[in-house]
Amino acid sequence: MLDFDVVIVGAGAAGLFCAGVAGQLGQRVLLIDHADKVAEKIRISGGGRANFTNRDLDPRAPQKHYLGENPHFCRSALSRYTPTDFTALLQRHGVPFHEKHKGQLFCDRSAEDLIKVLLRECETGGVTRWQPCAVKAVAHGADGYTLETGQGSVRTPALVVATGGLPIPKIGATDWGLRVARQFELPVVPTRPALVPLTFDERAWTPFAELAGLALPVHIETGEKKAKGAFDEDLLFTHRGLSGPAVLQISSYWREGQPLRLDLLPGVNLLQTLTERKLSSRRLLTNELATLLPSRLADTWAAQDPLLQRPTNEVPDKALARLAEGLQRWQLTPTGTEGYRKAEVMAGGVDTKALSSQTMESQQPGLYFIGEVVDVTGWLGGYNFQWAWASAFACAQAL
Ligand code: FDA
Repeated sequence: MLDFDVVIVGAGAAGLFCAGVAGQLGQRVLLIDHADKVAEKIRISGGGRANFTNRDLDPRAPQKHYLGENPHFCRSALSRYTPTDFTALLQRHGVPFHEKHKGQLFCDRSAEDLIKVLLRECETGGVTRWQPCAVKAVAHGADGYTLETGQGSVRTPALVVATGGLPIPKIGATDWGLRVARQFELPVVPTRPALVPLTFDERAWTPFAELAGLALPVHIETGEKKAKGAFDEDLLFTHRGLSGPAVLQISSYWREGQPLRLDLLPGVNLLQTLTERKLSSRRLLTNELATLLPSRLADTWAAQDPLLQRPTNEVPDKALARLAEGLQRWQLTPTGTEGYRKAEVMAGGVDTKALSSQTMESQQPGLYFIGEVVDVTGWLGGYNFQWAWASAFACAQAL
């Protein structure tokens, strides 16, 4: 039986970072992961360049960029480890990065740079890593936690669960953390895929399926009042539905049966524009529309109504009004999502009611949860990694 001060299960973003910090604070840390390769999710993130944080994050108003039963839960951790703290760490390691869009920071070269930083931090902290190594069972007794693993039994007073969420099972995602929570009778908020493409009824989608690959800026909304999500981002048509940053963002707010509301021409008053053009234009209406929208979309949309297949000056006012209403107040109800196979994160998870927002320790003494396994879900744009770093840091300080 080996003894460690801390055992962390999951060598992803949160687990690696927590291990490095705790090790450097003098703890004897064992980090265990069952996957062959370390931090595979970091490797594939941000198109291979890892969007590792976001400069726009305001820790005083976490509900702006985070969802969960209690979006204020993450305030303390996010205030104590900020995006600037993480960029300072990268700078210390000489890793170049840049800002792309809306405060999103990416590695210049590759996500591999980020993984190397985390591994070096672990090395400095003298962290022992067992990987690949499965954890077969966890028990708690007078001596703390005992883990039966593929490399033997270990004992520790502090067990940190950093096994992440359910997306992309083929690279090692499991529900292990959720099962451990249930084993110790901690509440779990029902989980669902988030930051995920949305799908539609196959027949209803047929006219739009041919638009696959087409992207355009839109305004998108769903839900009402406190549960409302609204974004100005790019939309992408796919064979089965909608994707792109606008839809990934809104998917975290979307609940089954709810419609999406889309404005495909944000900032334009389409009815007024077309009414003015009708006074003088003999061009086909689809050609006029194509000056405002991608022409494939203009053609597909106009094809739905024979009254729109005419020169602009001959299109009845009512048909113009219907067209403008359709394009600027498009309501459509997804039938589902592309699921964990395509989702970037899991919404729901270990209920924050059972965790300390200062330390991430649960009501079960000595058992901690950090990163995506917790019911804290960030927006697209580096917010999920920042939660991983911040929750890991808060936990490591408390061990
Ligand atoms: P993470 O998933 O990183 O690590 C969990 C670890 O636990 C894994 O190494 C896994 O093998 C291990 N594990 C699981 N079950 C286990 C078990 N039973 N036993 C032992 N080990 C086990 N976020 C962001 O902010 N910016 C971005 O650019 C992106 N991009 C992105 C792209 C794609 C394709 C995906 C799928 C996700 C993103 N994300 C993202 C989300 C981000 O990757 C995610 O939120 C963090 O990696 C979460 O960090 P964790 O450490 O909590 O889990």
